[in-house]
Amino acid sequence: MAKVTVLGAAGGIGQPLSLLMKQSHLVSHLALYDIVNVPGVAADLSHIDTPALVTGHLGPDQLGDALKGAQLVIIPAGIPRKPGMSRDELFKVNAGIVRDLATAAATHCPKAFMCIISNPVNSTVPIVAEVFKKHGVYDPKRLFGVTTLDVVRANTFLASVTGTTPSNSTRVPVVGGHAGVTIIPLFSRAPASLRSQLPEQQLKDLTHRVQYGGDEVVKAKDGAGSATLSMAFAGARFANALLRAVVEGASGVVEPSFVPLEADPLNGETVKKDCDNLEFFAVEVELGAEGTRRIHQLGELSPYEKEMVRNATPELHASIKKGIEFVAASK
Ligand code: NAI
Repeated sequence: MAKVTVLGAAGGIGQPLSLLMKQSHLVSHLALYDIVNVPGVAADLSHIDTPALVTGHLGPDQLGDALKGAQLVIIPAGIPRKPGMSRDELFKVNAGIVRDLATAAATHCPKAFMCIISNPVNSTVPIVAEVFKKHGVYDPKRLFGVTTLDVVRANTFLASVTGTTPSNSTRVPVVGGHAGVTIIPLFSRAPASLRSQLPEQQLKDLTHRVQYGGDEVVKAKDGAGSATLSMAFAGARFANALLRAVVEGASGVVEPSFVPLEADPLNGETVKKDCDNLEFFAVEVELGAEGTRRIHQLGELSPYEKEMVRNATPELHASIKKGIEFVAASK
């Protein structure tokens, strides 16, 4: 069993995510950190009769204690999008938050697996990589941008247009990144029976819906934030998959994630050739005891999917560069 630390645990994602992690039989200690309201969240969750010990940690003075001994760190800290705000506009605020939390993690739990939820993921994951490099503790196999929600949405929306029941077993891989056109659902990999039901225009509409699914929630919440409950579900699914591989030694655990491609030198190089030499890309990742065990190659893509990869690479290059330069410019 593992110590899991949630940074930003009192937020819209942090609270339901912590509730879900409290239910995991793979968690021995759930350390909750935030700069507001976290003692109440921790007290509340601590009454649930599952094994995980819950501790609350409020403010920077208590951040070290939250992180010491953590095997898994999940970061949903930061501001969410408001209507009309792009993920990139979040950058200025969230980049600094993620940099500072990554600095604390590199200091107090340098070997922890880092799961980054805070947006823009296409930039915050490179930020964490650069901070860990600065501290001489970077292991690309241990760094993950959480893109599971894109896969969850692709499966759900596909089921809704084909009149089937959403199921985890009909997974549509989603590759690329985690913002707008960089989100590339590979519906060509859906089961043939479902794929054949998708005429070209419907495929395009479905793809667009997955790429901008976050906007549906931002609009419906009308200023009260972005996806929190579905994100908590997706974040817990990813964290539990990683724990199954790390703690239980389960094999064949595959989840999507925005990862450094150097985490798997062999397959990572092949993916790089398909995506204009990007250093980070969302791919299907086989998880193991050390984190990333194997990156899945993109394989055969349809002409439409190839075009989407081409269209995504300029934005991904820019977002990754932005994250790297942000850390380089920090003291
Ligand atoms: P929220 O505003 O409800 O919660 C954020 C929490 O972070 C708050 O409790 C706040 O006090 C805390 N926080 C702020 N600065 C902090 C710091 N320095 N240290 C620790 N905690 C700090 O926001 P919400 O809705 O929970 O979203 C959080 C992040 O997740 C946003 O960046 C959002 O864009 C992102 N997100 C990511 C998704 C993904 O698929 N990866 C999907 C949806 C949202």
